[in-house]
This record gives sequence, structure tokens and C-alpha cells, in this order.
Amino acid sequence: MNATQTAQSLSFEEIVRSRRAMRRFDQEANWDPKVIDKCLDLAIQAPNSSNMQLWQFIRITKAEAIQEMSRLCMGQGSAANAKEIIVFVARPDWWKKHAQFNISKIKAQESNPKKLKRALEYYEKYVPFFYNQDSMGILGFFKKILVNFMGIKKPMMREAGRTDIRISIHKSVALAAMTFMYALKGEGLDSCPLEGFDSKRVKKFLNLPSKAEINMVIPCGKGIPEGIYSPKNRIPLEEISQKL
Ligand SMILES: Cc1cc2nc3c(=O)[nH]c(=O)nc-3n(C[C@H](O)[C@H](O)[C@H](O)COP(=O)(O)O)c2cc1C
Repeated sequence: MNATQTAQSLSFEEIVRSRRAMRRFDQEANWDPKVIDKCLDLAIQAPNSSNMQLWQFIRITKAEAIQEMSRLCMGQGSAANAKEIIVFVARPDWWKKHAQFNISKIKAQESNPKKLKRALEYYEKYVPFFYNQDSMGILGFFKKILVNFMGIKKPMMREAGRTDIRISIHKSVALAAMTFMYALKGEGLDSCPLEGFDSKRVKKFLNLPSKAEINMVIPCGKGIPEGIYSPKNRIPLEEISQKL
């Protein structure tokens, strides 16, 4: 199975093993943008912290915008060649809205009073405790002191600072990005995750507010063999895996 082969119905293992960071895309291949709708719909099935779904996907579809994005991605070939570029964005600023989404779902779906109380408490008490952060990290600083103090006697989540929450949100966005790339591979298409970009300029170009953070920029298209720059080299599993 080669990495650019058209996939009809690949097994999950074939998808995982054949996905590669693709740096060149076929300019002649047909492109149906609907495939991106489908793959993004699969991306939002990804697990994410507290089901907060603090992700946003911005699709760059027009040729001039793709060229501008490629400039902002340090002129990387994968971006310049892409049929479409998807920007995966972390949106910590959406936490109240998304907590409210979960609260309304729970209220509509949960009939057991005990479970309802526990679930509501989670989104009305714990979620605000962790997600309500100020831009200076002052609130988070005091929250961290509090959880570390509470953690003296019993196990406690220590990640209550502003940076901790940013990391947590980025983890979830990256899982959506990964799900998206596998979904795309399942459609016989390719992608290249990028962190080589000027985040300040990309945010400005996309009109994003200061609190939004770019997680990954993903050029997509039909890969070509020249788009794979090296064999897939992985450190052997035995070296990086252990059993306790
Ligand atoms: C978070 C992240 C950032 C990356 N940034 C870039 C990038 O800016 N440019 C690039 O060509 N590849 C980038 N890559 C692709 C990696 O170089 C590639 O995944 C790695 O070398 C392994 O190769 P494979 O994906 O073909 O297995 C990035 C990958 C990840 C996960």
C-alpha cells in the first residue's frame, strides 16, 4: 500500500500506516470540497476535555488566500500546493458558551435527579473554576496555589493555571486535527500538519481575536510520491513503551 494510493475502503490500520506528512499535492487531481465537510464532521467526533469542544476550523479555499497563507507559513510547499488549507484554532474564549451548551443538553436529557445534580455541578462549578482565566494568569496563579494546597491530603488535579488550560484545550484540538487527517486519508487524500507559521500574522489574516490560538495549519489535497520527503522512521516501540 503506497501513501498516495486511492483508498476505497482502507482498514483503520492501513489508514494509520499509510498516512504521511505530504509536502506536494497533485495539481491536476479533481477536488471536491465536500470531502472536507465530511472529514470535519468526523473530526468533531474526537474526544475532547469535558466535552467543551473549544475548537474552530477555518477553511482557506480561494487561490489567493491559499497563496497568502503559504507566505505566512514561511513559503512551505505543502501550503502553496494545497487544494484547501484548514486552520485548526483553539478557542479558550468560548468556554462560557460551550459550558452552557452542555448544561442545556444535560437538562434536556438527564432525568435521574442525582445524576442531573452531579452533571450540572460539573459544568456550573468545576468547569468555571478551571476555564475562567485572565490574560495575565493572575487568577490561575491563585487557583494553582489552592489546588496544590488541597492536594496535600488527597489526589487533586494540579493543572489549574492559565497555561495548563491552554495546553488542555490544545490537546483536544490536536485530537480533532488527527481525526481529520485520518478521515482524509480514509478518503484517499493527504495532508501535512504545520506549526511552521507566523501565528501573529495568521491570526490577523483570519481576523481572529487575541485570545484565539492557532493549533495547527493543515494543507490538504491528493498527494503525489514526490510529496513524501523521507521514509517513515520511528523509534522502536520497545524503546519508548513500558509496562508497570
Ligand atoms: C505539530 C506538528 C507540526 C508540524 N509542523 C510541520 C511543518 O511546519 N512543516 C512540515 O513540513 N512538517 C511539519 N510536520 C510534519 C512532521 O514533520 C511529520 O509528521 C514527521 O516528520 C513524521 O512524518 P510522517 O507524518 O510522514 O509520519 C508537523 C507535524 C506535527 C504533528
